[in-house]
Amino acid sequence: MAHFQVRKLFLLVASWNILMPRVSSLADEVSVVFQGIDNATTLLLSDDGATLYVGARDEVLSLDVSQPGVMTVKRKTVWPPGPENINQCTERGKNEKVDCPNYIRVLQFLNGTHLYACGSHAFKPHSRLFDRETLEFLGSPKEVRGHCPFNPLKRSAAITVDGELYTATTSDYLEKKPSISRYLSKGRNDMTLDSHMSVLEEPTFIKSFFVPSERKVYFFFSEVGKEYTFTEKLTVSRVAQVCTDDVGGEYMLQKRWTTFAKAPLVCQPQRQLPFTVMQDIVALPPPENERADNTLFYGVFSSQWPSAAAASVVCAFQLSDVNAVFSGNYKTYKTETNQWLPQTDKALNIGKCGLLHENGKKLEYVRKTFLTDGKVQAVNRRLALVSADEDYCRIAVQRTKAANGRAYTVLFLLTESGFLHKAVLLGTGHRIIDKTQVFTPPQVMKSLLLSTAKGVVFVGSSEGVTQVPVSLLLQLLYLPGVRFETRPLLCLGHVSWDLCQCVHDCL
Ligand SMILES: *[C@@H]1O[C@H](CO)[C@@H](O)[C@H](O)[C@H]1NC(C)=O
Ligand SMILES: *[C@@H]1O[C@H](CO)[C@@H](O)[C@H](O)[C@H]1NC(C)=O
Repeated sequence: MAHFQVRKLFLLVASWNILMPRVSSLADEVSVVFQGIDNATTLLLSDDGATLYVGARDEVLSLDVSQPGVMTVKRKTVWPPGPENINQCTERGKNEKVDCPNYIRVLQFLNGTHLYACGSHAFKPHSRLFDRETLEFLGSPKEVRGHCPFNPLKRSAAITVDGELYTATTSDYLEKKPSISRYLSKGRNDMTLDSHMSVLEEPTFIKSFFVPSERKVYFFFSEVGKEYTFTEKLTVSRVAQVCTDDVGGEYMLQKRWTTFAKAPLVCQPQRQLPFTVMQDIVALPPPENERADNTLFYGVFSSQWPSAAAASVVCAFQLSDVNAVFSGNYKTYKTETNQWLPQTDKALNIGKCGLLHENGKKLEYVRKTFLTDGKVQAVNRRLALVSADEDYCRIAVQRTKAANGRAYTVLFLLTESGFLHKAVLLGTGHRIIDKTQVFTPPQVMKSLLLSTAKGVVFVGSSEGVTQVPVSLLLQLLYLPGVRFETRPLLCLGHVSWDLCQCVHDCL
């Protein structure tokens, strides 16, 4: 009986010409590739969604993306390192063409008129300001440390808040000095981490986010977990915080964060080893009228162990859980014994914003007490997606409403093999609904940017920028006249994903 109905549905749909079953991906026909930019791996979209800024090799571009399916160059500014910097770079044994160009790794809006960029600049990072409209240089380039990495293949995170720049990167040529800092501070101190003790252990920084209602910047990364005393180096993934109102201590911890705190993130299937190597993470804002702490962070992780049960998994973390862990208890580092012990002085409000820590004795304690006792568990303590064989490396996420008002979460996942997968999360698991090839491997650096307003995903890679539409694939159709008439079909535009399966599983 069910089988018959499904067939009927197929016929109906075919006759309507709305949803022709097809084998090939519709997305193939409408993706747009913008080629001719090398290493186009840093992407930034203007608030109105009309301009895409691209940080590439030796150049910064603005692309007009206001019309769907079209990308044209608006402005382009070349910014290679000078001959002197290139000489120094090659004298250190680096390859001129591969290592010594200026790879733009940070691109952020400073304010309504200025754009900030930082590039690896022949292993001597330089920053520069641009006019957002004309892309003309404003002022001369500055040699900087701690803004973007020396090594263009090293990952880092940066975000501007009210024209100030928060960064997480290594700040030295040898990549031994990771730091989380604030630069371009307006009328107050630039800030960085206390260096008396090792606060970060070989971190790989992934992303940073600003949450205005919390007045905090959050940093996501993986690092070696020194709180564990295993002989093997254990990777842990973390979320760290700093308060934007932090100006450091007065007599101690001057120009050093007093609100820095870090917490472990747990993405672990039941009775199996955890997935701790963070590949990417993205924020999903709460639905309208909901509190900011309903923000979700979707992270894609792989395992440190080759024998793991899956190639990659996705976990969601809720901001309220992150904040609960940061306002809970902490561990204190005992230098004498190299041990993390439970926090004893509970009255200190470690990690709380808006507190001025002037007292030297307290700051001595604060300095050693930045690791939370609690762990941030994934939402419902379960994995949102498990992939046995795909190495997912970047993620974007969208919430979309079906005709019955039910919200679905759609993930966009970039694979190491160059495909963009679209997956719908269902109560019982997930469904891959589309696969589009967007670049040819291997590509070490790449980026993924979703514009919900425009209904497109941008993929930046060394082959150029690809624009893949999401809308065609997310048509939420009613199919009246059949028994399913009251059920909205989350029908995703084409039938590389079998329609029968959809009717059977999704409704
Ligand atoms: C933007 O920032 C730059 C650099 O700090 C400054 O010179 C410029 O006046 C600012 N523009 C606006 C509109 O605030
Ligand atoms: C730049 O692109 C080339 C391929 O064109 C790639 O081999 C190289 O790793 C890329 N470099 C960086 C720093 O992204």
